[in-house]
Amino acid sequence: MAKETNESKTVKYGKIEVPVNDGQSQYTPKTAGKFIDHEDILKTLAIAVRDNLPVLLIGESGTGKTSAIRYLANQTGNGLRRVNLNGGTTADELVGRLLINDKGTYWVDGVLTEAMRKGEWIVLDEINAALPEVLFVLQSVLDDDGYLVLTEKDDKEIVHKHKDFRLFATCNPPDYAGTKELNKALLSRFAICIHADFPNEKTELEIIENHLGNAVAKSELAIKLVALANKTRSDKEIPATGVTYALNTRDILNTLKLAENADPMESLLLAFGNKLEKEDKSSLKTTARLYLPTKKKANATRIPISSIDKLEIGASYVLDNDVHNAYFAVSADKNFYEKMVASEIAEVIGSGREDAIKGDEFTIEAFFWENQDESSKTEVRNVGSKIGSAIKITAGPNKGKCGFIMHHADLDNTADIIKSIYEIK
Ligand SMILES: Nc1ncnc2c1ncn2[C@@H]1O[C@H](COP(=O)(O)OP(=O)(O)OP(=O)(O)O)[C@@H](O)[C@H]1O
Ligand SMILES: [Mg+2]
Repeated sequence: MAKETNESKTVKYGKIEVPVNDGQSQYTPKTAGKFIDHEDILKTLAIAVRDNLPVLLIGESGTGKTSAIRYLANQTGNGLRRVNLNGGTTADELVGRLLINDKGTYWVDGVLTEAMRKGEWIVLDEINAALPEVLFVLQSVLDDDGYLVLTEKDDKEIVHKHKDFRLFATCNPPDYAGTKELNKALLSRFAICIHADFPNEKTELEIIENHLGNAVAKSELAIKLVALANKTRSDKEIPATGVTYALNTRDILNTLKLAENADPMESLLLAFGNKLEKEDKSSLKTTARLYLPTKKKANATRIPISSIDKLEIGASYVLDNDVHNAYFAVSADKNFYEKMVASEIAEVIGSGREDAIKGDEFTIEAFFWENQDESSKTEVRNVGSKIGSAIKITAGPNKGKCGFIMHHADLDNTADIIKSIYEIK
């Protein structure tokens, strides 16, 4: 990706060439792990740096916004200042202020003024949470010939932008809890706006490999955590699921670090789950149980279930008998299945019957409820009686398939099904 060419002192990202700065800022990041350039974030940032354009990066937390800028600053030898505009950051902190000592008053530059003078880069995090007075300052700096007037300073000095000064701002998407929309005038002053998205599964595993090594990235836990993260991300997109949280790359990395010495579920809760509200935490636990590898208990016991009401989401079961026509459309088609689980409507998957085969082990991902239909799914969710369970077959002859067991009380074979299912504990 990045090629350093010594003679010209530039770093290349594809065809984009960015000059290396040999000015020695104490704020140049000394180290920066390799950045995996998903969605060409780095290449676009390189264009912005080369062409001296202010950039706004919008993306969910943990999508690599800060790391991408940090990496580029490290590669190109530029000083990098960071300010979080959330909460009470005042214009003074950016611009500077008059202080008093026994000789009188003296001026101290703020972080933005300093970066503009010295030609450093500045990242303004959470720009949409900035106070109006801060936005006012930024607006004038962002103009092409932008400058800062130090109005509080005795000589009302005007500070111009050093040729190496660059400005980056980040924010979470406008629909994010607690975020405000940026005003149009400010927004239009960012010549480039990058949308940072979550990496796909392959890229995310590469990021894990970079941070924690090949063995961790290849581990079952890493693969399953990435799958779980993707599940939470897509669930969050569907309002009917009620899921309001999503695991990001930072959460995955933190979980994996903790899991070196702790149980996977416990690590996930410490790194992420305990930050959620009670309901979200329990929904995370339910989903995570289906994804995270469980340490197989040496002396697992099989407990017969006496009624369908004993079935639980997330628990493991085994069939100890063949049951004719027990599964409904057991299929390896994940798309249909995911849709069905998300909507809790059995019909989505279509029709067709298969036998349950002795030795099939499965987990339950969702229940279907009596009287449920497309239009009333939210109203009737979790009421009435369970008529079916969405299952993922984890071991045995049908391993890898998913589908559902219809266990409506009116069905002829319900009794057979109940007799055949054992919970594995
Ligand atoms: N493409 C990537 N390559 C390497 N590491 C990455 C990448 N994306 C994310 N990471 C890692 O994920 C973690 C979170 O990234 P980062 O802090 O850059 O996110 P962010 O978008 O700035 O989040 P926030 O909005 O919370 O500030 C970091 O540990 C970072 O190193
Ligand atoms: Mg950040």
